[in-house]
Amino acid sequence: MNLKTHFLPSHVAADALRGVVVVIDQLRASSTIVAALASGATAVVPCLRPEDAVTARANRPTALLLGGERHGRLIDGFDLANSPREYRTQRVAGKCIAFTTTNGTKALLHARLAGHVLVGCLNNRAAVAHTAATLASQANAEIQLLCAGTGGAVCLDDVLAAGAIASSIQESMPTDCDDETRIAERAFRDAMTHGVLSAMRESQGGRNLIEIGMEADVADCSRLDITTVVPHFVAARNEVLIPRAQIQSRA
Ligand code: MLT
Repeated sequence: MNLKTHFLPSHVAADALRGVVVVIDQLRASSTIVAALASGATAVVPCLRPEDAVTARANRPTALLLGGERHGRLIDGFDLANSPREYRTQRVAGKCIAFTTTNGTKALLHARLAGHVLVGCLNNRAAVAHTAATLASQANAEIQLLCAGTGGAVCLDDVLAAGAIASSIQESMPTDCDDETRIAERAFRDAMTHGVLSAMRESQGGRNLIEIGMEADVADCSRLDITTVVPHFVAARNEVLIPRAQIQSRA
């Protein structure tokens, strides 16, 4: 099976993202989407701009919260920012969340044409790797790991998470991978030796968060395999959700 990694969405055209795509915005959009669905949110609606999220709320009859960030902080008029710890059961269970972040939701929407689009990060590393490998072998398709980057630049936080997911995929099945995947895997192996948290703190995403006092999020997001939740982006409905079968198997 082929395994490719793209360090930035601009490295790959939307119509070349076929097969199974794992979208990675390690700090923090992927981690926050995983946390929201793990806490019982019914769906996350990815929106490019804050005004799109406001329109989504106006159009939906069911309870809908506005979540996301600009410059890492709460957007004026929104209910939640982009910190996974805010997305607790008491706040989000049974709710749908219209969600917009600087890089993560853009990357997700870039992958809308793929057969299967999953959301991955360190928190769900083994589970997303297993799901991607299973879907790819069922469909005889390739897996592509799509990093969101930060402001159009490659960032170490996403590359480390891509390396972690790629290593986990390769443990379960042999793959023919590209050099971006090899670079990511080497970076992750190095981080495992010297400390994943310290590598995350050094990354651009980590430094941005530390600068605005969100250091605790860097630590929370750096934890490996704390959940088996694997969000799927259903592009036809513009919703990221947990498929019913996954909910039943967790019950
Ligand atoms: C993004 O989408 O760029 C990030 O999620 C930014 C952040 O961590 O707030």
